[in-house]
Amino acid sequence: MSLDLGDRQRGMLREIGIELFWPAAEVREEAPAEQPVQLAPTQVAPIAEAPVRARPPEPVAPPQRQAPAIAEAPLRQRIPGVAGMEWEALAGAVAECRACRLCEGRTKTVFGVGDLQADWMVIGEAPGETEDLQGEPFVGQAGKLLDNMLAALGVRRGQGVYIANVLKCRPPGNRNPLPEEIAQCEPFLRRQVELLRPKIILAMGRFAVQTLLQTTEPVGKLRGRVHRYNDVPLVVTYHPAYLLRNLPDKAKAWADLCLAQSVMRGLA
Ligand code: URA
Repeated sequence: MSLDLGDRQRGMLREIGIELFWPAAEVREEAPAEQPVQLAPTQVAPIAEAPVRARPPEPVAPPQRQAPAIAEAPLRQRIPGVAGMEWEALAGAVAECRACRLCEGRTKTVFGVGDLQADWMVIGEAPGETEDLQGEPFVGQAGKLLDNMLAALGVRRGQGVYIANVLKCRPPGNRNPLPEEIAQCEPFLRRQVELLRPKIILAMGRFAVQTLLQTTEPVGKLRGRVHRYNDVPLVVTYHPAYLLRNLPDKAKAWADLCLAQSVMRGLA
């Protein structure tokens, strides 16, 4: 499967190194590092609207990041009525949210950014340091690669695509999100998807993928087919930060984008 590329898009592909690894037939087998881990037991309050999922480790283990000890504080009450909110109220609710302890360390909440009429929705995991400072998703190094990937598809931030994360606040030290943080935050994302009604969701990275699909299957096993989240077609791909560390897997990511594009066009 391939896309009809213009010169500009070919240039983008060259720039992000994807052309080097095309065609997809050259794609390698999955790296063993993509195996899932055991889910942690959940500590979710009965108010949870969605099952709790745990975040597995990064595909290639970075230097071990220890989760700071978070006291076993009782879960706070979620902001009520999220499921019926419109964009403005939803953004306000996120900005004011104190439903988990991530609110204590955040600089800014990171609600999401983009075209509210977009066909494409990209979902990542959680804000990093730069995103926390700027209040916008994917503005660090991984974000630059994401922008190039989107440009290859003919969309860009603010036009044709909406970008959000599962978590709206930065986990301290970029540690993995805790199950209760995911449980508290996911209703915001669910509502964003309902309001946007994108034609396709691109779920990036193991944490986002496993959270949205409620599975512990590795990304490599979930790629290459069309899933659904909230009745919206969802295609799984690697996180741009992972691709920066694993350049050959850009070819697989490109194949994922092609699949998503064909779904978007009603071809798959
Ligand atoms: N990684 C993500 O998943 N989201 C961001 O916003 C930044 C980095």
